[in-house]
This record gives sequence, structure tokens and C-alpha cells, in this order.
Amino acid sequence: MAIQPSVLILNGPNLNLLGTREPHVYGTDTLEDVERLCEDAAARLGLEIDFRQSNHEGELVTWIQDARGEHDAILLNAGAYSHTSIAILDALSAVGLPVVEVHLSNIFRREPFRHHSYVSTVARGVICGFGPHGYVLALEAVARLVDAADPA
Ligand code: DQA
Repeated sequence: MAIQPSVLILNGPNLNLLGTREPHVYGTDTLEDVERLCEDAAARLGLEIDFRQSNHEGELVTWIQDARGEHDAILLNAGAYSHTSIAILDALSAVGLPVVEVHLSNIFRREPFRHHSYVSTVARGVICGFGPHGYVLALEAVARLVDAADPA
């Protein structure tokens, strides 16, 4: 049987607090619920996933660097670092893997400082505003990207 494509799913700061964190913005599902959703979607799509969360920018950078040769794509919700981190942008550019960016909330309906994302400048696509289901949509997009090995 062919080896399944592997997707590194990274969650940035404060996403460990999902479920209790501003539920009117982020809903009541926990990060463990999101992980289960991803596991179910990945099984259906024939993908392997490695699901992680960190509150530390440098740890996220290291995980992105280490993804080269280990994973076929990165699904990234960098949380607030999306709007601030040139280091994460540089790491994504350095590894060159396809990136799909996810946000639970619709960042464009929120404060202006959330409207710009460094991650978006290298992401193949962005999904935001659909809550945890956005991770499923992103995995569907990743499955197509790695299947087509689309060089665009
Ligand atoms: C977020 C949106 C960011 O602006 C915010 O800083 C987060 C979560 C989201 O998933 O909606 O931490 O990435």
C-alpha cells in the first residue's frame, strides 16, 4: 500500500484555551475536539496528521523547519503570530512546503490589526470564519494539493 501523505497541523498561542477562551468568538469546542475532527477527516481523505500546539514562536519555527523531509504539507493556525511573525513567515518560505492557513474566526470581520497575515503571503490558500470545520475544509484542500503535486 502506498504511503499516505503526511500533514503537519500547527496551532499557535492561546489555541490551547479553546473551549473556554472567548466562546462568543471561538466557540465551545476544545482543541482536543478540533484534533478529533481532523483525525476523522484525515482518515476519510487518506492523510496522516501530526497535530501540535505551542504558545512559543521559536518552537513553532523549529517545528516548521523540521517538517522538511518529514511532512508533505502544513496546515497552520498561527493565532496572533499570523499578524506579527516574520520569523514564522521566513521558516515557511525556507521549507517550501505547501501551506494552508486556517483561522476559526473571520479575521476580516474583526479588528483591523487582524486583517493582515504574514502567513497569507506564502499560503496556498486561507480558510477563515467557519470555526473548527475550517480545519476539515483545509485538510480537503491539502489532500488535493498533495495529490496533484501542483507546482503553482
Ligand atoms: C485566530 C485569529 C487570530 O487573530 C487570533 O489572534 C487567534 C485565533 C483564529 O483562529 O480565529 O489567536 O487565529
